Amino acid sequence: MRRCMSLSALSFAAALLTISACSKKTTEKKEPPAEKPAEGTPPAEGTPPASGGGGGQVEVFSWWTGPGEQEGLDAMIAVFKEKNPGIEVVNAAVSGGAGTNAKAILANRLQADNPPDSYQRHAGLELVDDIKAEKLEDLTSMFDQQGWKDKMPKGLLEAITIDGKIYSVPVNIHRANLIWFTPKTLKELGIAGPPKTWKEFLTQAADIKKKGKTPLAVGPSWTQKHLLETVLLGELGPEKYTGLWNGTTDWKSPEVSAALETFKKVLAVSDIKTAAADWQPAADRVADGAAVYTVMGDWQDAYWGRAKKMKFKEDYDVVASPGSAGVYDFLSDSFTLPLKAKNRDAAVKWLELCGSVEGQDAFNPQKGSVPARTDADKSKYKDYLASALEDWQNPSTKIVGSLAHGVVANNALSSEIDTALGLFVASGDTKAFAEAIGKAYAATK
Ligand code: GAL
Repeated sequence: MRRCMSLSALSFAAALLTISACSKKTTEKKEPPAEKPAEGTPPAEGTPPASGGGGGQVEVFSWWTGPGEQEGLDAMIAVFKEKNPGIEVVNAAVSGGAGTNAKAILANRLQADNPPDSYQRHAGLELVDDIKAEKLEDLTSMFDQQGWKDKMPKGLLEAITIDGKIYSVPVNIHRANLIWFTPKTLKELGIAGPPKTWKEFLTQAADIKKKGKTPLAVGPSWTQKHLLETVLLGELGPEKYTGLWNGTTDWKSPEVSAALETFKKVLAVSDIKTAAADWQPAADRVADGAAVYTVMGDWQDAYWGRAKKMKFKEDYDVVASPGSAGVYDFLSDSFTLPLKAKNRDAAVKWLELCGSVEGQDAFNPQKGSVPARTDADKSKYKDYLASALEDWQNPSTKIVGSLAHGVVANNALSSEIDTALGLFVASGDTKAFAEAIGKAYAATK
């Protein structure tokens, strides 16, 4: 398993080498032990996080509230309480898929220097603004102390390393490029199997529409952005998709225009005019048989498999989104240590659990993700998750980074894409869409 992970990590690293703000250097330098700062006192730069501090509380901020979201967090909190009976966990989760609401609230709290003790951020360029604004503590020495550098794939470490320093603790790996369905609906409609390409999807969709069902269920705009990334990936392939984020694929090229035209056609056979309020209700439309497919990350496995108690392969199934077999469009949830954390010692304990085998093996089987660590207990990952772990560890799997979940675009580019996507959904103007994103991308250079 270790061998597989390191091979897989090589291609992973290659895919991420292009993330400009991430440095390839990792600091091996040992910092001298520092005195433990008082609670609430921001430590000096490079200070190794101190363990210890038995009581008090820790405020943990995420967006994992609803069914399919909160089970994993609850499982990790339960382990934390067992290990730290004197520390109260204040679960400050704010509802809304992909953190749409949580991120706005967090921005205000960071601005006001009133951060939670630890907050969720995706590995990748989503972290950069907080680091530049000097909101986060350097966790490099914690990684050294805990021996985590040898326990996580190199490419993942690169995604959380800026200028040689590591700033967050990854708890999982999610896969974004998945299309979900129920065998029952496919059978009812006489569909032999899920589409292997977006072209095949559109052919199936024409037939599905004639039979009075919705081909594709979507939710709010972040789910449409998630769909956009999977259509771009499926139509362009992993190298050119990655090229969109490292400057080697031109947003104004004919192939990108063609991919955006496909995206337009895909949206046209979705229920975007009556889009669901979030990803769970979009999944419900598929489970109920009103819609046939939905494209979503593997947190949907937690929703259907755990929260809704549906049986994998019998009640639901999932494959790589059209055109992306053999590719893992990854994202990673990670937790940070704000410099202004009020309960730093307790937050360090939370992070230690996030990075541990015990924490990850409690969290991930519930969350619908695979562990960020390479040495987790494989037997805990069943059904869909067993296949996800196998794909993630397969040396021939190609790894690319998610747009909608913070890996390949920084916050400024991501929000420009949100604006351009909103305009595109209203106008259908692919040329203006490509130009707007191309311009926003160029501005990040
Ligand atoms: C992602 C996050 C996942 C899941 C999903 C839906 O951004 O990384 O863990 O929560 O949003 O809310």
